[in-house]
Amino acid sequence: MGFKALCLGLLFGFFVSYIRTPIPDNVEESWKIMALDITAKILSLMAMCFEKMGIIKYEEFISIIISLDYTQPHSDEYLTVTDTAFIDIPVRLYLPKRKSEIPRRAIIYVHGGAFCFGSFYRLAPQHKFPVPFEDVLTAAKFFLQDKILTKYGVDPTRICISGDSAGSALAAAVTQQIQNDPEIKHKFKTQALIYPVLQLIDSSLPSYRENEHGIVLTRDIAIKLASSYLSEDEAFPQAIKRNRYMPLESKHLFKFVNWSILLPEKYRKDHVYTEPILGRPGYSLPALMDDRASPLLASDSQLQNLPLTYILTCEYDVLRDDGLMFVSRLQNVGVQVTHDHIENGIHGALAFMMPPLYLRLGFRIRDMYISWLDKNL
Ligand SMILES: *[C@@H]1O[C@H](CO)[C@@H](O)[C@H](O)[C@H]1NC(C)=O
Repeated sequence: MGFKALCLGLLFGFFVSYIRTPIPDNVEESWKIMALDITAKILSLMAMCFEKMGIIKYEEFISIIISLDYTQPHSDEYLTVTDTAFIDIPVRLYLPKRKSEIPRRAIIYVHGGAFCFGSFYRLAPQHKFPVPFEDVLTAAKFFLQDKILTKYGVDPTRICISGDSAGSALAAAVTQQIQNDPEIKHKFKTQALIYPVLQLIDSSLPSYRENEHGIVLTRDIAIKLASSYLSEDEAFPQAIKRNRYMPLESKHLFKFVNWSILLPEKYRKDHVYTEPILGRPGYSLPALMDDRASPLLASDSQLQNLPLTYILTCEYDVLRDDGLMFVSRLQNVGVQVTHDHIENGIHGALAFMMPPLYLRLGFRIRDMYISWLDKNL
């Protein structure tokens, strides 16, 4: 019995050391992060196996796990929290109880979850691009109407749109749409994007290379989830992994994500730039060339109309360079940007602010974001 247990223990030990990602020295709370990373990797592996066996789809399995962490709307002495709908898009409202002499500031916050997880708009893989984008746009436009702003006592000149991870992709895309739409009277004063995903056309950026086996989020998982936002095609994730999936006619867009120009030298390091390989035969997916899926593909003239922007990036994150390139592109066209880079940050830390696994990093990111908002909104 003891021998069997020892064998099993050793086997598990080997397994864990095989799947885990070494935690860099400068990362705080490394034991917690290691536990998180291993849990995420085991769950992802289970989801992969179940999907191969035809039991349940990868995204559905992960979605069930994530839903265990679902929080009911919970009011307290300061806030009334309720679930409601803007038109037919579910939203959660956080309304201060204290009366205000002047109209209030407001934030529209779009949750993360790789376009697949969460609960407040229609999600992939059932609802592919552009459905989640359109839902967020619908909810935002609904909120920006005079009668709704008046109802909630909001100052139309002090509204922010914000999100984390995939939520910030949607927030950035909606911002571009709204700021460039002459029919919409009230615009955003600011956008705040936390470890955003901003492009789906180059999967070989330095951050993808350095974090291929990244903490919690690996390159393969990021690709699998992003591809299920765009396409049913089973060969698609493989094509993305080889960075060979963009249609021939997309060549003119590569300049918008040319990291050999757009990344500061510090992050380019000695990586050698290669363009994505063009022309996957017999393949056309308009979403790949759409700036509502990849906000980095917007032209300079569209970017010029963007509001004051906050971008937070983390060093150990496959998506790091999306944020960094957006900072460069916005600065190049004269949009004011505040950029916070967390040298020892990992992707998704904001999701870990509840026991048993809360990370100091999550609170640090929250506080940086809130203090920026408080000064700038
Ligand atoms: C990317 O930038 C490099 C210069 O660093 C240039 O040689 C190359 O042609 C550019 N490629 C694209 C697609 O813009």
